[in-house]
Amino acid sequence: MRLVHVVGARPNFMKAAPVWKALAERKAFAQVLVHTGQHYDVNMSDVFFADLGLPAPDHYLAVGSGSHAQQTAAIMVAFERVVQEMRPDLVLVYGDVNSTLAAALVCAKLAVPLAHVEAGLRSFDRTMPEEINRLLTDQLADLLFTPSPDGDMNLLREGVPANKVSRVGNVMIDSLVSLLPASSQSAVLERLSLAPMEYAVLTLHRPSNVDDDVVLGRLFAAIADASQRMPVVFPVHPRARQRIGAIAAQTENGQVCLIDPLGYLDFVHLMSCARLVLTDSGGIQEETTYLRVPCLTLRDSTERPITVEMGTNTLVGRDVRLLAERFSAILDGDETWNRLPSGGIPLWDGCAAQRIAQVVVDWSSHS
Ligand code: UD1
Repeated sequence: MRLVHVVGARPNFMKAAPVWKALAERKAFAQVLVHTGQHYDVNMSDVFFADLGLPAPDHYLAVGSGSHAQQTAAIMVAFERVVQEMRPDLVLVYGDVNSTLAAALVCAKLAVPLAHVEAGLRSFDRTMPEEINRLLTDQLADLLFTPSPDGDMNLLREGVPANKVSRVGNVMIDSLVSLLPASSQSAVLERLSLAPMEYAVLTLHRPSNVDDDVVLGRLFAAIADASQRMPVVFPVHPRARQRIGAIAAQTENGQVCLIDPLGYLDFVHLMSCARLVLTDSGGIQEETTYLRVPCLTLRDSTERPITVEMGTNTLVGRDVRLLAERFSAILDGDETWNRLPSGGIPLWDGCAAQRIAQVVVDWSSHS
């Protein structure tokens, strides 16, 4: 039986790696890795393949950047050729990026069975491109792997038959669990002259935060103010490099340190030793929850509500007063946020990919 995994953007790589390995161990499948090339910089892509132990892609589609329509269409045209040539028995797609939806559409039109890893997440904000990608991919998938009960509920409400849905847990946490020991060897703190628990980490790349100079300027000024109490390290996503550089140059106060994007092991180490994290990413809300590092999310909604229920994550949106208040409270030792059970979140245990592999084995024996 031939399986094709499709990855394209940074947050796909740490989800695909454990699933690839778990399926390889079953020895029942021929696996093919397709990289769409949505992310192509060395530090957005190559370093992750090395850190995560993913094999080099069998097919690299080199689609690069463009508008949503251009990027999605380019992936579809190139991926359709791969599917026609290979006739896979199952295609696995990950997360909510444009590569995910593009590959899902191709499979649906060519009647190739599709599995969606990280299904069912909803922010209920259709202005986010990722929300559209999630909704449509889930409608097209034959096997849907969810990380938490809210995912199951969202799918059932949208009419997805229950027998297609398997709650397997969080594959992103699988990568974190397996690579935490290796990440602790990272020299990133020494390189940046940082001491554990004496800095905050910031990531920002959502179009709603970084594409408008006024919004970005207000947020950055608030973070720069907060950083007077504790330095903030900011690995800058390429989509906002120039804008943020210009805004940072005009901001006088504060200690925000702009650096290039980091590889997986360095970033995990930086995050796990941080006093707190500020982000608009999805996956980082989950990783900080697992690591019990308080996270302030610079968005009004989240598709990962369990992280808010557990208290590790607070949605501060663009409310700069709330941001300043929570930043200070955490530095002043406020621990009231932590509502995590001692065993952590059920099924966020490093074994989600094994559960996916078992479902695929069972599915393959019936198809
Ligand atoms: C994509 C995902 C987003 C995810 C993010 C993680 C979609 C709709 N968005 O957003 O969900 O959180 O990846 O990083 O799929 N660029 C480079 N080098 C690269 C890649 C991108 O310079 O290797 C720059 C280009 O200017 C490009 C811009 O970043 O136009 C945006 O890239 P794109 O892949 O379209 O979306 P992301 O913002 O990275």
